[in-house]
Amino acid sequence: MVLEVKDINTFYGLSHILFGVSLAVREGETVCLLGRNGVGKTTTFRSIMGLTPPRSGSVKFMGEEIRGKQPFQIYRAGVGLVPEDRIIFPDLTVRENLEIAVRKSPPEKKVEGWTVEKVHQLFPVLKARDGQWGGTLSGGEQQMLTIARTLMGNPRLLLLDEPSEGLAPLVVRAIGEQILVLRKEGMTILLSEQNSSFALKVSDRAYILEKGHVTWQGDIAELKSKPEIMKNYLGI
Ligand SMILES: Nc1ncnc2c1ncn2[C@@H]1O[C@H](COP(=O)(O)OP(=O)(O)OP(=O)(O)O)[C@@H](O)[C@H]1O
Ligand SMILES: [Mg+2]
Repeated sequence: MVLEVKDINTFYGLSHILFGVSLAVREGETVCLLGRNGVGKTTTFRSIMGLTPPRSGSVKFMGEEIRGKQPFQIYRAGVGLVPEDRIIFPDLTVRENLEIAVRKSPPEKKVEGWTVEKVHQLFPVLKARDGQWGGTLSGGEQQMLTIARTLMGNPRLLLLDEPSEGLAPLVVRAIGEQILVLRKEGMTILLSEQNSSFALKVSDRAYILEKGHVTWQGDIAELKSKPEIMKNYLGI
């Protein structure tokens, strides 16, 4: 198991947001966390990353407890978060945005680490924009740059918070294809989405979150055969 979240409760001040959330991601799986606006998807990612540590429960990464660790320690352990707000450095070039994030692959991993060249194969548009300032990129290009920059840190688990949000259909399709390439290469991914048709195309399994509770979990094929669940929880 790469990630095992058990029974976490997370608060912002007095507001109780996550109520005993549990989920797991196995090596090489792409798992999606589905749910409408404000159900706690970002809070789940912040809980895993240590940005808003859960008050109780457990978060295990590669078998080790990471709840209570600092975000930089969780990053160093191999968790790469692509946040909802896609923060890139506008005053650095696209290449500098990538190079700033280089981190060697852990020696025990025995796979070739990510390089600018490898990133360019996955995101050709970033090659075309190599010398441009980050701030001149379109929303879709910024999303790709944020994913690419996170990959440069050679994470063992990639957390994608609503990668399709606010992007044009063609760009969403391109990002979907890029996620499928990562999945084929064996990357372990947890992504959150409101856009369930997008998420169902790229994922192996799903968890549905509703008001801070996991209300359904299972395989994508099973979810597709249950239109009433899709309708009730996801509004589609
Ligand atoms: N910093 C904060 N302080 C207080 N409440 C917050 C804070 N951030 C989020 N919330 C509340 O926590 C709940 C869950 O928010 P969260 O951002 O995790 O939802 P989400 O599923 O990611 O939604 P979205 O699809 O809009 O991104 C919401 O009710 C939100 O208003
Ligand atoms: Mg969110």
